[in-house]
Amino acid sequence: MSAEIIDGKAFAAGLRARVGEQAARFNAASGRQAGLAVVLVGADAASSVYVKSKGKATVAAGMASFEHRLPADTSQDDLVALVDRLNADAAVDGILVQLPLPSHIDERVIITRIDPDKDVDGFHPVNAGRLATGLHGFVPCTPLGCLMLLKHVRGDMSGLDAVVIGRSNIVGKPMAQLLIAQSCTVTVAHSRTRDLPDVVRRADIVVAAVGRAGFVKPDWIKPGATLIDVGINRTDAGLVGDIDPVCAEVAGAMTPVPGGVGPMTIACLLRNTIVSACRREGVPLDEAAI
Ligand code: GUN
Repeated sequence: MSAEIIDGKAFAAGLRARVGEQAARFNAASGRQAGLAVVLVGADAASSVYVKSKGKATVAAGMASFEHRLPADTSQDDLVALVDRLNADAAVDGILVQLPLPSHIDERVIITRIDPDKDVDGFHPVNAGRLATGLHGFVPCTPLGCLMLLKHVRGDMSGLDAVVIGRSNIVGKPMAQLLIAQSCTVTVAHSRTRDLPDVVRRADIVVAAVGRAGFVKPDWIKPGATLIDVGINRTDAGLVGDIDPVCAEVAGAMTPVPGGVGPMTIACLLRNTIVSACRREGVPLDEAAI
């Protein structure tokens, strides 16, 4: 048996096209473009590449991109002041401050300063609370992308056993909430979990977000399981995920790295931005359809 390889790149292209259609409808209804502000502090090479591709994708979807590149020695007070200006700017529907921030800035201060209704990253505790309690808010882009791929492959997930490996605020915790909302039985595993292979062997769905190349092994996988690989690890052999590719011999479906979850993250950021714009202007939008 060999797993279906889940084409995240193609799915993301479809999502970006649907967002583009909604963005055009938003322009016509509101008389302005939806706007996304992206803030980068410092010149970290990987972050700089991400910010550039976010800006390009925003413009390609017919939305306005406001890029703020600040020097690495920007003070926390100055960054707070910029966030306050963006919160008050009517042309800005979404605000993303690229993480990680330089060590002299407390990320918690910045994340909690962003207006929750412009927090398209979904990192503000108000949005984490909304997700946990089933209220409308913003869901972090990477787990949202994983959920879309899972729904595409599995349809109804009610009653399935899901194991999320990793407990970060950005991926593991929101992913667990999303799977609970799908009526899965969810286990969140992490570095202190005992007998991890046995825990994973029970899972119909595995989401791996640990940041260790090839960490999840083929003999941990229940035959036919769906595997979602959030890992992006740079190795001498190039980009590899957290799941050993040989797991495809046992799994029913699996995301590749690259070309799986990665392309979904930016597409979901664009989705959250058009959702925010429509909510802010009272423009009708079928959120379930995009
Ligand atoms: N750094 C790595 N991924 C992300 C993300 O999704 N959002 C932000 N703001 N920073 C990141």
